[in-house]
Amino acid sequence: MRKNIVAGNWKMNTTVPEGVELAKAVCEAVCKEQNLKCDVVVGVPFTHLCAVRQAIDINKVGLAAENCADHVSGAYTGEVSAPMVASTGANYVILGHSERREYYHETAEILKTKVDLALEAGLKVIFCCGESLEQRENGSFKQVIEDELKDSLFHLSAEQMANIVIAYEPIWAIGTGKTATADQAQEIHAFIRSILADKYGKQVADDTTILYGGSCKPSNAPELFAKADIDGGLIGGASLKAADFMGIVTAF
Ligand code: 13P
Repeated sequence: MRKNIVAGNWKMNTTVPEGVELAKAVCEAVCKEQNLKCDVVVGVPFTHLCAVRQAIDINKVGLAAENCADHVSGAYTGEVSAPMVASTGANYVILGHSERREYYHETAEILKTKVDLALEAGLKVIFCCGESLEQRENGSFKQVIEDELKDSLFHLSAEQMANIVIAYEPIWAIGTGKTATADQAQEIHAFIRSILADKYGKQVADDTTILYGGSCKPSNAPELFAKADIDGGLIGGASLKAADFMGIVTAF
């Protein structure tokens, strides 16, 4: 059976002390929760990984980097490789976020390499896909999502897919306060599961966790998470306050 997951993506927010404080607060709240119905992950800036790893119980709260390099090591000033991320004790990496695709020109080919290197380093990958407002309005959105998944993930084996979590994040819903309706999100999640089934068979499709991201908050999480194919969320803004984040974690 697939897991429910609620993952925070802090993006470029918090200093290290602020991040440690936030991670501690999340971990304490998670430890107190008697009846948790999901795994909890915090996605933090590279600079925070070691300190946050020390501050949390990794058996209770997973730790994700927000990116990794498309090389293992070498003369790539400023880059951080997947083995480096893994060496901090992090167990996940977020790849393919629309902000990285758009602002840092990450192509499907680059992301394919990053996915391979992350898996080789023993990291689980939270792989993001999602359409722009223009693509939603011109009706090409399903093709866009299918291409994003095919071009960076579908070279993987069924065994490797066990370490992939997919996050559907419609770009028009990120940081805009404009959430996809639960029905709109469910439609795409079911579509993603159907293309996984076509490629890998029903078992892999059924076992793959598919998260929703985009203005998810405590008030709309219950309706989203009640949908059959929505297995949790990738949370931006609302992951920066422990109480808001926990309001989503406990929404199942
Ligand atoms: P918001 O929750 O701030 O809309 O961000 C979503 C997101 O991009 C998570 O990766």
